[in-house]
This record gives sequence, C-alpha cells and structure tokens, in this order.
Amino acid sequence: MAKKKLNIGLVGYGFMGRTHSNAYRKVSNFFENDHVPVLKAVCGRNEAGAKAFADKWGYESVETDWRKLIARKDIDVIDICTPNDSHCEIAIAAAEAGKMILCEKPLARESNEGLKMVAAVEKAGVPNMVWYNYRRVPAVTMAKQLIDEGRLGRIFHYRAKFLQDWTISPELPQGGTGLWRLDAAAAGSGVTGDLLAHCIDTAIWLNGSVKNVSAMTETFIKERKHNLTGKVEKVNIDDACAFLARFSNGSLATFESTRYARGHKALYTFEINGEHASIAWDLHDLHRLQWFDHKDEGQLRGWRSIHVTDREHPYMDKWWVPGLQIGYEHTFVHQVADFLTGIDTGKPAAPTFRQALETQRICDAVLESAKTEKWTDVKVDG
Ligand SMILES: NC(=O)c1ccc[n+]([C@@H]2O[C@H](COP(=O)([O-])OP(=O)(O)OC[C@H]3O[C@@H](n4cnc5c(N)ncnc54)[C@H](O)[C@@H]3O)[C@@H](O)[C@H]2O)c1
Repeated sequence: MAKKKLNIGLVGYGFMGRTHSNAYRKVSNFFENDHVPVLKAVCGRNEAGAKAFADKWGYESVETDWRKLIARKDIDVIDICTPNDSHCEIAIAAAEAGKMILCEKPLARESNEGLKMVAAVEKAGVPNMVWYNYRRVPAVTMAKQLIDEGRLGRIFHYRAKFLQDWTISPELPQGGTGLWRLDAAAAGSGVTGDLLAHCIDTAIWLNGSVKNVSAMTETFIKERKHNLTGKVEKVNIDDACAFLARFSNGSLATFESTRYARGHKALYTFEINGEHASIAWDLHDLHRLQWFDHKDEGQLRGWRSIHVTDREHPYMDKWWVPGLQIGYEHTFVHQVADFLTGIDTGKPAAPTFRQALETQRICDAVLESAKTEKWTDVKVDG
C-alpha cells in the first residue's frame, strides 16, 4: 500500500527543533507506519537562521511568522518547539485551522492556559500529543510494563530527582534566546515546569494520579540582568524545588529538582519500591533498568542491572542487534512512531493535551503549596 504523506510544519528550530527534525527523518527507516513525515516547512523569526536550518535538515520551505505557517493548506501537523509562553497561542490557532498538533512540554506556563489548549484541540477533534519523551526510553517503558503486570505488588514509595548545575553563576543573565528558562514570563516557572514536569509525567504514568503535595522552593540568585531590557531585574523563577506527594494508590513520594547541584548536568533518576520488588532508573545510564525481586532465591537475591537492548525489550526489535544500545535521540523517534501509529489506528498516542494537563495541575499545586506553606490538593476535572 502506498504510504500517506504527513506534512510537518515545525515552529522553533533550537534544541527541540533539532531532536524532532532528526526523529522525523529517521522514523520511517526503522518503523512501519501508513504515514510518512515530510519536512515541509520550518518557521523561525530570523529568515537567514531558518533558511540555514532548512538547508541543513532538509526542510522544503521557510516561514518567518507561525500564523502564515498555520494558514498553509499543505501543512498537516504543527509542531510547537518554542518557549513555553507561546505554546497556548500557537496551539489554539493551529487547532482552529484544523491542524494536528505536537507540542513540547510543559503543555503551558500554568493550567489555565493548558485548559484552553485542551478545549481547543477537543473542539476541533484534531490529533494532539505532548513531547514527554522519557516515557519512550525503552528501560522506562519496560518499568511501566513490569508495574502493569503487577510484579511490584502494592507500591509504597516513589522517589524522583532531576538535578542540574548550569545557573549557579550570578553573572548569568535572564531572558531572551537561550536564557528564556530563567525568565518567569517566558517559562512560567523554573525547575518545576522545566524539570519536575518530566518527573511528574513519568510518575503519574507509572503510578497513577497524585492527590496532594507539600512543597518548598527557593530562588538562590534574587536578581539578574535581563537580556531583553538590559536592566537588573528580580528573578521570579524557582531555582530549586522539593516536594512531598501522596498518590491516590496510597503510596508516598518525594520529588527534588535544582539547577544548583554542582557536578550534575541532567541527572534524572527515579526509584519505586513495591511489596514484591523495586525498580530504579537513571538517565545517565538510560539503557539499564535496576531491578530487585524479593522472590529470587535467598542467597542470590540482589539488585540486577538489566541491559535493555534485547529484541523482547520495548522498541528494541526496531534497532540494531541485542547488546547494542540506543540513546536520548531515539526517545523522540519512538514518540513520532507512536504518534503515527495513533493516526493509523485512530487510537491516540499518549500523553494527549488532556493527559498532560494533569502534570500541569500538579505543577500548579506544587507552586501554590510552596507559596502558602500548606499541603495543597491537586485540582481535578469538574
Ligand atoms: N522534551 C524535552 O526533553 C525538552 C527538552 C528541552 C526543551 N523542551 C521544551 O521545548 C521547548 C523549546 O525549548 P528549546 O530548549 O528547544 O528552546 P530553544 O531556546 O533552544 O529554542 C526555541 C526556539 O524557538 C524560537 N522561537 C521563539 N519564539 C518564536 C516565535 N514566536 N516564532 C518562531 N520561533 C520562535 C527561538 O528562536 C528558538 O529557535 C520548550 O517548551 C521547552 O520546555 C523539552
């Protein structure tokens, strides 16, 4: 059967623009789907920059205004790879134009924006997905399978961390290209929306919904020069955040994130302790899953380090031969493959905007709790 073309319109060609473009180019070489992505157009405000990106990655055309990109009849999918303050406006316009939408995480700066985005895609009935790519690390997908098979039994504890160290210098400015993450107006929040959103998405996928949270945040550097105004301005993001959470299944959780953990670049880890078994995972060793099974024979009982590269492991039959590992960029290839399967089958790939709204609401509750210094319930629909 002839493959159907899916014309991609990419908005923003920074870090995520590159990971997504790489994924669109590779996916059909490794995965079988009815649809094949076509790199139709890239949109950036700087024409020369967008043109250079288009030439490098093989995009057929360039736009400098995302509204024009959305208005084009030859674009099927709008892929939002811009800072968080533009997700809502672009997504709503794209939904109204009947485009499918892929949006980078976090869905929005806060859940009111996210809710409007959910309403727009649901009203338009367009396929939509948020790029919480860590679900598609084979070892993490395998953790999900082991939990769903009931191998851990009742879950008691969930523990997650995401540690970085790149904002320790007080000389680092805030705002603008490359540093929008330090500007609350552009990012919404600091480590909560940027890093903990990943930890929360994985956690609710693996362990179900969160009931309430108790959080603390800190902004270690109170003022920084703003790149856009040139003035020294108050820093409004959270530099670090730690919170306690209760899941609906009765398990207890701790989450911690900072950009002030000297020596750590992107240390995302989680550990889950169940009645029968425990699981641990570490982004710096992403192809391994640590597994402890209490059912093992007494004297041989201990933590196993499973090299998740065999054909029976999630996604791995599509890549090389057993024993050869894959990396970070493949998580995006997997996510595109799952999105294409969703279109082929009519069964949406997760997380949809609505599913990603749950993470947003937990982030909101975390920031609210840090402000009020009180346990805070996570808002639910209705
Ligand atoms: N899934 C992940 O693991 C992951 C990792 C990094 C970033 N992200 C998310 O991806 C998004 C982008 O982050 P990034 O690291 O790629 O940022 P980046 O700064 O590297 O790139 C952002 C790009 O958007 C462009 N841009 C900004 N406003 C625009 C507009 N109005 N029209 C067109 N282009 C515009 C910028 O010029 C730049 O090219 C953010 O929402 C971020 O949270 C997700």
